[in-house]
Amino acid sequence: MIKFICTESEQQAGIRAAEIMAEVIKTRPNALIGLATGSTPLNMYAELVRKCSIGEISFKDVTTVNLDEYVGLTPDHEQSYYWFMWKNLFSHIDIEPENTHLPTGASPDPEKECINYDRLLDRLGSVDIQLLGIGHNGHIAFNEPDSHFPKDTTLVKLSDSTIEANSRFFDSKADVPSQAISMGIGRILRAKSILLLATGQGKADILEKALFGKITPTVPASILQFYQGELTVVTDKSAFSTIKEKHPRVNPE
Ligand code: GLP
Repeated sequence: MIKFICTESEQQAGIRAAEIMAEVIKTRPNALIGLATGSTPLNMYAELVRKCSIGEISFKDVTTVNLDEYVGLTPDHEQSYYWFMWKNLFSHIDIEPENTHLPTGASPDPEKECINYDRLLDRLGSVDIQLLGIGHNGHIAFNEPDSHFPKDTTLVKLSDSTIEANSRFFDSKADVPSQAISMGIGRILRAKSILLLATGQGKADILEKALFGKITPTVPASILQFYQGELTVVTDKSAFSTIKEKHPRVNPE
């Protein structure tokens, strides 16, 4: 069963998502948390920083593992996900740097890095809560529409629509890396709970398609319908609008 939480605004969605994360950290101070990048979780990260700064939560014993990283970007590249995580979260909280993990995008051997990342995931064990965003084409992490659902961490060729969507962060479309290392869908589904965060009108149709449409690797997020753990979907009104229209019986919190 999917639990839906629909909030008034994008900012409220971030605050609500941060409350859910904070609950996990309070209940399990040494939680293993799966993190995501993109513009959607920015409000959530800001709220987690605030909660940490007032002492409501501590990341002292928390371990994090990120979903993905661009191939070829060094950690000091401003568009690397490593940089994103340090800029928006890690440098503002009391987490131990050695407890934060992302795939090494600048690895000379990205295929090997995928294997290494899976070894790390095996060592770390089950993720307590995995944060996910959703791409306009239904991707989760960087698992793009495909003919199958990848199980393990893989080297992914980014689709043109993803390169286009993410080019807003780069000087030009040509600067967007064409490949990424992405945690596989099989790995993502091992998490004990998943928090899917989606905001804005642009996500309304794909969110409905993913959560109520056919389960197909051409919409990678649709596999979440088979997820056995606790799935919470936090949205703002705009992102929830297609679900509201097509599934009036769904009653969000
Ligand atoms: C990116 C990330 C995803 C993210 C998605 C949505 O490409 N790899 O993890 O969920 O696209 O991004 P945004 O939140 O900016 O819409």
